[in-house]
Amino acid sequence: MTDKNQPFLRALAGETVSPPPIWLMRQAGRYLPEYREVRAGQPDFINFCLNPDAAAEVTLQPIRRYGFDASIVFADILLIPYGLGQKVWFEKGEGPKLEPLALEDIGLLSVERATEVLSPVSETIRKVRAGLPDTCSLIGFAGSPWTVATYMIEGGGSKDRFKARTLAWSQPAAFDALMDLLAEASAHYLKAQADAGANALKLFDSWAEGLPDPLFDRVIIRPTKLIIDRLREMGVDLPVIGFPRGAGPQAIRYARETGVQCLALDHGVDTGWAREAFPKDLVLQGQLDPAVLRAGGAMLDSEIDRLLSAWSGRPYVFNLGHGIHLETPPENVTRLIERVRNFKA
Ligand code: CP3
Repeated sequence: MTDKNQPFLRALAGETVSPPPIWLMRQAGRYLPEYREVRAGQPDFINFCLNPDAAAEVTLQPIRRYGFDASIVFADILLIPYGLGQKVWFEKGEGPKLEPLALEDIGLLSVERATEVLSPVSETIRKVRAGLPDTCSLIGFAGSPWTVATYMIEGGGSKDRFKARTLAWSQPAAFDALMDLLAEASAHYLKAQADAGANALKLFDSWAEGLPDPLFDRVIIRPTKLIIDRLREMGVDLPVIGFPRGAGPQAIRYARETGVQCLALDHGVDTGWAREAFPKDLVLQGQLDPAVLRAGGAMLDSEIDRLLSAWSGRPYVFNLGHGIHLETPPENVTRLIERVRNFKA
């Protein structure tokens, strides 16, 4: 299980691999009938994520079906607030719900408790690693502090994170303390995933969009760098992929200052601009629109070809610009993989 056997790890180490390795965000999920079958027997989503047998099974499903170059452990970014002691639950059709956190209550959250509660995820990683082909890499992940905090403060998803942004401006010390706490909990969680056998780590910052520079620096760059520095301090040397979704040109600072080895691009990023904006040795990942994968057909083929050509000749990992949509026909994914694997630069 050396880097050499795994095309995904070779790409993350800065090698131009052709055709590029491919995996998809949310590749385990409701678009797959075999996932829906397991899901039907697991009424509670959090306990599903914390059940190593069930979680390992759904992690392996897309690998068996498609032979992706990487798998991502089945879990959720909201396990951290749950582990810290916040009330978190999922309502069918409505997405996640949390009992909104008041900044005065940060003292009630416990990093030690989170590490303990999230230990089943390490067990999932051990089971998945044992079930994967040697050539397939395993990604561990966490949500980035800002994105996780928006859910904690807003009590769920929100239109523009206005409450979280207001608190970041009005109570900077308490807000930065929450970022520190989330960074510390995430670093320990990721270290546990590394120790259990993950080959790479990813930080999801799904709500990095729409932040003025000073806030972007405080809530995105600083906490992300804290996590990566802390991991290195604890002896974790795995490559880290950062996904600051919607960051636009602020991603240049993110790539330069946080310490990530790979930058995941969303589908709204101008490809021609990005080719010039990022250093040629920065590994890039992305950026197929999940809607064109849902649509399929000739448009899908031409978008795949556009990205393969644009990113050929540099270290690159093929992926979507955001998670796969649940209405995606599984055969469109087959078509995507075949086309990527048959690509000749
Ligand atoms: O295959 C994989 O990518 C690994 C598993 C994974 C899940 N969530 C499983 C999941 C990963 C990496 C995540 C990350 C995640 N979770 C993010 C960041 C990435 C992104 O998409 O922006 C966010 C914001 C969350 C929070 C979250 N979890 C939301 C908003 C929802 C509801 C959305 C929905 O589709 O209902 C979830 C639930 C969730 N997490 C599902 C899955 C497969 C669907 C729940 C189900 O099966 O009932």
